Amino acid sequence: MKTRAAKSVRTSGYFVTFEGTEGAGKSTLIQLLEKRLTQAGFAVAVTREPGGTPVAEQIRKVILHQEMDPWTELFLYEAARAEHLTHSVLPALHAGKILLCDRFTDSTLAYQGQARGLPWKVIQTLNHTATRGLKPNLTVLLDIDPAKGLLRAKDPNRFEAEGVKFQTLVRKGFLKSRKEDPKRWMTVHAGKHSPEELADEVLARILKAAPAKNAVLRKVRSRG
Ligand SMILES: Nc1ncnc2c1ncn2[C@@H]1O[C@H](COP(=O)(O)OP(=O)(O)OP(=O)(O)O)[C@@H](O)[C@H]1O
Ligand SMILES: [Mg+2]
Repeated sequence: MKTRAAKSVRTSGYFVTFEGTEGAGKSTLIQLLEKRLTQAGFAVAVTREPGGTPVAEQIRKVILHQEMDPWTELFLYEAARAEHLTHSVLPALHAGKILLCDRFTDSTLAYQGQARGLPWKVIQTLNHTATRGLKPNLTVLLDIDPAKGLLRAKDPNRFEAEGVKFQTLVRKGFLKSRKEDPKRWMTVHAGKHSPEELADEVLARILKAAPAKNAVLRKVRSRG
């Protein structure tokens, strides 16, 4: 088996991740964007973390619903991520697709780092190892008052159950990560705009930024 390359991976696709506190509207926005990008003729794939492959989806069930030591939680996220990279993220990007991913490495920094208190730099190193250095081309932060997000959230899990104080720390973690690499991020105000308005904003950004990143995107069909 090949060892993992020290250098970061190069792909022809365009990788967009969506981050935000519980109930911010990530899944809703991704669904809309998938539809719009497909209508525009692009090859699109949608995935999520933790999850996105059969093994990683099994890990997801354990992570989201069972209490555990924070370090166990962190390693399970990274284990799921390594699997997800190999079997979902890289194949989609190598095929020239626009890949829309619901949560990625920044969630680990925000939840396990800022909110649970595990060391930020250690998480960055583990993220780098699990992703082989692959970074999203664009990360969309759906920023919302964490309390408002929690009221909207529909998918109960033990992170939601931690409440507003925890989600406020999570939001702080996203802001810290954004500060470290601001060019990678775009922030949308998820509490103030409709999903359609948010989709317009993000779509415009993807269509503008993808060519500038030299993405060689695969077109499946054109609807003129
Ligand atoms: N921009 C918006 N304005 C108002 N309501 C919204 C908006 N976006 C999503 N919603 C609604 O908020 C709820 C939560 O949205 P969604 O499930 O997309 O959030 P999420 O960020 O994926 O949540 P989770 O973190 O639990 O996965 C849904 O009922 C959705 O219809
Ligand atoms: Mg969701």
